[in-house]
Amino acid sequence: MSTATLSPSPPAQGDEVAQFRAFLRDDATRKVVEQVIGELMIPHATVVSGGIEKAIEALGRNRSPRLLLVDIAGLELPLSAINELADVCEPGVTVIAIGDRNDVGLFRDLISRGVFDYLVKPVTPSLLQRSLLNAAEGTSAPRQTNRLGRLVAFVGARGGVGTTMLAANTAWSIANLRQRRVAAVDLDLQFGSLGLALDLEPSHGLREAMESSSRVDGLYLERAMIKQSQTLHVLSAEEPLDDTLLTDSVALDLLLKELRARFHYVVLDVPRVVSPAWQYVLQSASNLVLVSEPSLAAMRDTLRIMSLLPTCNASCQLTLVANRVGEHKTGELSRAEFEKGVGRPLDVLLPFDPRAIAGAVNSGQPVAGGRSPVARGIAQLTDIVCGAPQAAKRRLLSLPAWLGGKE
Ligand SMILES: Nc1ncnc2c1ncn2[C@@H]1O[C@H](COP(=O)(O)OP(=O)(O)O)[C@@H](O)[C@H]1O
Ligand SMILES: [Mg+2]
Repeated sequence: MSTATLSPSPPAQGDEVAQFRAFLRDDATRKVVEQVIGELMIPHATVVSGGIEKAIEALGRNRSPRLLLVDIAGLELPLSAINELADVCEPGVTVIAIGDRNDVGLFRDLISRGVFDYLVKPVTPSLLQRSLLNAAEGTSAPRQTNRLGRLVAFVGARGGVGTTMLAANTAWSIANLRQRRVAAVDLDLQFGSLGLALDLEPSHGLREAMESSSRVDGLYLERAMIKQSQTLHVLSAEEPLDDTLLTDSVALDLLLKELRARFHYVVLDVPRVVSPAWQYVLQSASNLVLVSEPSLAAMRDTLRIMSLLPTCNASCQLTLVANRVGEHKTGELSRAEFEKGVGRPLDVLLPFDPRAIAGAVNSGQPVAGGRSPVARGIAQLTDIVCGAPQAAKRRLLSLPAWLGGKE
């Protein structure tokens, strides 16, 4: 028998993450679990009475543990319960299910939905211990089943088109209106303005995390992030302009993986300088929100960036946004001209509305929290990123005709 223990994670500051929680229906299993917790010396472990329904209810309100044991015995639709659990859980949680059906089909379905292991009752201490150690060590695990949060990259076709404004407001909306955990990261360490757009001080530690992979771990990130709210955590910097930054792709990769294991969405404000980091982000993003404006130069660069995707990241979901529409009375491309030029319809159009933007700054409330047409456009964009096409369609109808609605 292995003598390894589940290594205690250092206590996180603020909202602490439990190492282990079990939601169990029957006393026999509960006794076995408590015995194994003792033998493995798992710190911060709790056992709760009640099955997966109780877990769904509890995790909807609290931080998820690293390792979660849920009882699915007696359920008619265990897979829908697992799907529901996945919706409320943080992405990086390792889930082990315990049930009463000795059924290979069910086992395979659970694994394909990201469950790490499935144990059939009566569970023995040695079986449970082996499963927990596999889950904790990862290395001896049969496969990597952890899910990751979505990586949503905001890239501007030109400078000043509103990329930061949209990244900040979309992150804010997903976190505060949809209650999902969001990490917003400004990859421009010197000129970035994501923190400013959210009325936050720059955080400390992003540069170190991007320069050296050895710095990146969960505790470091917990400390480095500025919390705009319980659900929106921000990493930004204001590094001296006379410093040469030595950002490293391996460190960036690790940083993003750590964040994606902890947050449902990682929103990136990507600077418009083609660098290894820029290329890495384009290759690994789940969603690319390409922000443009109705000018010839922006149309050209939209097309150039779009044309990279099929070869570098074919599965990436592209959302094309035209912002600042109507800013210039003359010389602006029409919607039809722009769409013809890029060979694709625009997904979201936002009007130029300095009043709404200034109003938001004065009230200290993000523009997405208001009722302006810009706020409606951001809501539409948020629906597209999070996948709610029906809601998006409804909002589209309420926009003026030029902006895509019906009169
Ligand atoms: N739809 C809009 N209407 C009016 N002002 C806007 C709009 N979108 C962005 N802005 C303003 O334009 C400026 C540039 O936006 P920003 O998000 O910093 O652009 P980028 O990140 O693409 O350089 C900011 O002052 C921002 O508040
Ligand atoms: Mg910007």
